Amino acid sequence: MAKLAHAQWSSKMGFVLAAAGSAVGLGNIWRFSYLTGESGGAAFVMVYLACVALVGLPILVAEWMIGRRGQKNPINTMSELAHRHGRSRGWAMVGISGVLASFLILSFYSVIGGWSLNYTLGSVIGSFTGQDAEASGEAFNGLLASPKALLIWHSLFMALVVVIVARGVTKGLEAAARVLMPALVVLLIVLVGYGALSGFFGEALSFMFTPDWSALNGGVMLAAMGQAFFTLSLGMGIMMAYGSYLGEDVNLLSTARTVIILDTAIALLAGLAIFPIVFANGLDASEGPGLIFVTLPIAFGNMTGGSLLGLAFFLLLTFAALTSAISLLEPVVETLEERTALGRLGATLVSAVAVWLVGVAALLSFNVWDSVLIFGLNIFDFLDTFTGKILLPLTGLGAIIFYSICLDKEEARKELAMDVYDYSLWNLLAKYVAPLGVIIVFLAGFL
Ligand code: PHE
Ligand code: NA
Repeated sequence: MAKLAHAQWSSKMGFVLAAAGSAVGLGNIWRFSYLTGESGGAAFVMVYLACVALVGLPILVAEWMIGRRGQKNPINTMSELAHRHGRSRGWAMVGISGVLASFLILSFYSVIGGWSLNYTLGSVIGSFTGQDAEASGEAFNGLLASPKALLIWHSLFMALVVVIVARGVTKGLEAAARVLMPALVVLLIVLVGYGALSGFFGEALSFMFTPDWSALNGGVMLAAMGQAFFTLSLGMGIMMAYGSYLGEDVNLLSTARTVIILDTAIALLAGLAIFPIVFANGLDASEGPGLIFVTLPIAFGNMTGGSLLGLAFFLLLTFAALTSAISLLEPVVETLEERTALGRLGATLVSAVAVWLVGVAALLSFNVWDSVLIFGLNIFDFLDTFTGKILLPLTGLGAIIFYSICLDKEEARKELAMDVYDYSLWNLLAKYVAPLGVIIVFLAGFL
């Protein structure tokens, strides 16, 4: 293997934390629960779980492996590895679409990060106290209806991201993740416990885990697959970039398993925390992107110690969102830095302003621009759908196909520390199941 060209993660733990920090975020709590509710529940969850295991795992390992060999940013890595193996440099397209996806996702991710900041403040000033379903819905709609409020929170969130990236304190953040991620898990378990006492836990369980297969169609499957990519930070070159810092001693498969189990557990816990509240209060599970913001405040407003728990929860959610947002900004900054004369700080500022501007368009689509439609979707929905359902699956597909045709099999087998038998199973998964799965779901979603 090529000699490592740049610094490595100080430790295996550092790498796991960085990867988990990117993976665990709003996707697990906000996006997973709203899509589950909107897509009818368990059938969506089952396809999502299958995609995580059969498509997400091989693609995660493939992205890390490609990154570890390429030792560059995703665009150059793809172009050079392809060249080295006698293939077209056009493979760089996979890296380019990954960078584009990061850019577009961060723009609306920051808007939701802003909601989380707003709700952190809401807990501090006690605005949830005694709130019922109606009041909670009104409060959320009030936020959506105010371009000014949305703008302030979105700007604040982006500013936090920029300060962290520009000051290069991401390593400190990863260290904090070591404490804060378990804390988030504990809080979610407390909320699941609250849900279990609500008398509607059984409904939530069967909503999430007893599939009504008649609810399944191509669109739901594509949404579930897109969510698998989104939540694992796949199909963006981000994991590829992380792989380029990876030491040779790290076992890719077991690390991938750890990250995936953690990420999936957090999403399922979030669902089990939220849906009992939805059913207990007669709320609409298919409410859309506002789901966690209208449900959780009801719980926090009515339980003992709720304001403190609410504060802790939204702080931790904001923190998780920040670590993911940083990983989203990084590829954009890196690309600009290498291709222009802007320098690190300039590249950070220019990328952030561009992301922020697209975010402003996204937040206006909740109010003054709600009738501006792209392919029949408002700007926010378009960004979410176009990235999740098209860009991520296609970029991930590119990465896994590239892995299959360009990387040396015997070397890959040794790298994964597998015997010949296990490796043939792995190869089956990486070479056929994952790419065909993506292609079939993708076609089903559009036909
Ligand atoms: N995986 C993150 C989440 O679930 C979002 C994200 C997507 C972060 C892509 C980085 C890259 O919230
Ligand atoms: Na995630």
